[in-house]
Amino acid sequence: MEKTLEISKRRRLLLVPCPYQGHINPMLHLATYLHHNGFSITIAHTFFNSINSNRHPDFTFVHLNDQLPNDLLVSLDVASVLLAINDNCKASLEDILANIVEDVMCVIHDEAMYFCEAVASGFGVRSLVLRTTSIAACISRLVVLQLHAEGRLPLLDQGSMEDEVPNLHPLRYKDLPFSVTSDVSKMAEVILKMYNITTSSAVIWNTIPWLEPSEFTQIKTRICNQVPIFPIGPIHKISPTSSSSSLLSEDSTCLSWLHKQAPNSVIYVSLGSIAILTNQELQEMAWGLANSNQPFLWVVRPGSIKGSDGIGFVLEEFQVKVGDRGCIVDWAPQKEVLAHSAVGGFWSHCGWNSTVESLSLGVPMLCRPYSGDQRGNSRYICCVWRVGLGLEGDELKRNEVEKGIRKLMVEEEGRKMRERAMDFKRMIEECLREGGSCSRNLKELVDFIMSF
Ligand code: UDX
Repeated sequence: MEKTLEISKRRRLLLVPCPYQGHINPMLHLATYLHHNGFSITIAHTFFNSINSNRHPDFTFVHLNDQLPNDLLVSLDVASVLLAINDNCKASLEDILANIVEDVMCVIHDEAMYFCEAVASGFGVRSLVLRTTSIAACISRLVVLQLHAEGRLPLLDQGSMEDEVPNLHPLRYKDLPFSVTSDVSKMAEVILKMYNITTSSAVIWNTIPWLEPSEFTQIKTRICNQVPIFPIGPIHKISPTSSSSSLLSEDSTCLSWLHKQAPNSVIYVSLGSIAILTNQELQEMAWGLANSNQPFLWVVRPGSIKGSDGIGFVLEEFQVKVGDRGCIVDWAPQKEVLAHSAVGGFWSHCGWNSTVESLSLGVPMLCRPYSGDQRGNSRYICCVWRVGLGLEGDELKRNEVEKGIRKLMVEEEGRKMRERAMDFKRMIEECLREGGSCSRNLKELVDFIMSF
C-alpha cells in the first residue's frame, strides 16, 4: 500500500478508545500507525479523562457525551464507570457516525467500549475490537465469569486462593483478575459484554504470539471463532512518531537526574495510572527504598495515596536519608525512562502496557500487582518469562521491599533476570523488523481494512 496517499484520497477510520491511560496509549499508537499508512483518523472520546487534541494535530477529535456523575467518578468503581459509559455514549456515537458514515471504512473500538459494535452495525459499518490486555488475562476473565455463574464468588476460602486454577497454569486463584474497587457481579457483566463478539470483523491484540503461544492457540477457538486476530504487539513500538498521550504532564527533569546515575543502578518505581495506596503502604515503600541504598526514580501520582495529596507525605527524616539518591516526580516519560541506560530495574504494578514496555526494553521487574489483570501479568513475569520477582504478601513490609530491591538490582538472581530480559528485548526487536510477526501482522491488518 502507498504510504503517502494524498489527503483527499485517504480513507477515514473512526477510533474509540476507553478513557483510561492504559487504554488511551495503545489506541493512539495504533491511530498514529494507521495515519502513517494512509488513513484519516477520527477519534471519538469522552469528556471524562479527555485526550489533549492539541498534541495530535493530524487527527480529528469528536466528543462522546458520557454524562458521568461526579459521585460515580470519585467512587473509583471502574466497572460501574464502564457500564455507564457504554449506556450513555450510544446516542452521541450515533450522531457522529450519521455525519461521517459515507467516509468511514470501519470503527475500531477498545474492548471495554463494547457499545460501539452494535452502533456501527446499525449503520452497516464494519467494526474491529482492540484488546489492550494479554490473551492470558482474557482467558482468566472467562474463568471469573464461570466462577460467577457457578455462584462461587467471592472466593472466601483463603486456602484455595493458593491453589492453581485447573487448566490455567501457572495462575492460582489469587492471580485471577478480580477488581479491588468493583463489585464482582458488575465486573462479570462488563466481561460478558466485552467478550460477546457478534458482528465484529476482527480482533486486534496488543500481544506477541510467542509471548503466550498456548493461550494464543486456545483463544482462536474460544472467543474469536471465525474472526481473524491481528496480534500487533508491542503496540507502543509501532508508531513512527511518538506524541505523548499522557493525561498528566510528564516531568522530564527526571531524565537529567538519570543522566548523572551509573549504568543499571537505578530502580524505577511506578504503579501506573489507577492503583491507589494506603499511607501505610507508602511509608513501607519509602523506607524500603531508603534502606536499600539503591538510587531510585519514584513516580508518586497525584491522588494515588488514600486521603493525601501525594508528595506531601515525604518525611524530613526520609529526605535527609536519601538526599540526591532519590528522585520523585508526579508522572514520568516512562518509555524514555525505561530506555535509559541508568535504569536497571522496574518496580511495577504489572499493568499490561508497563509489562510489555519493560520486556521490550530489557528491564527486569519487581512485581507488586494491585488489581485486575496485574496479578496474572505478575505471575507470567515471575514464573513463565522469569524476568522478575514478586513482592507477595498482603501487607507490604519495608524489610521485604529492601531485600527485593537488592536482589533485583545487585544480586546474582537479578543479574540473571536482567540477562533474560535483554533476550526478550532482542526477540522483540526481531519481531518489529521487516518480516517479523509484528510488522507482518500490521501489514495484514492494513490490507484487511483496505479490503472492506
Ligand atoms: C490499566 C490496568 O491497571 C492495566 O493492568 C491494564 O492492563 C490496562 O489498564 P494502568 O494501571 O495505568 O492501566 O497500567 P499500564 O497498563 O501499565 O499503563 C500505564 C501507561 O502509562 C503505560 O503506557 C506507561 O508507559 C504510562 N506511564 C505510567 C507514564 O507514561 N508515566 C508514568 O509515570 C507512569
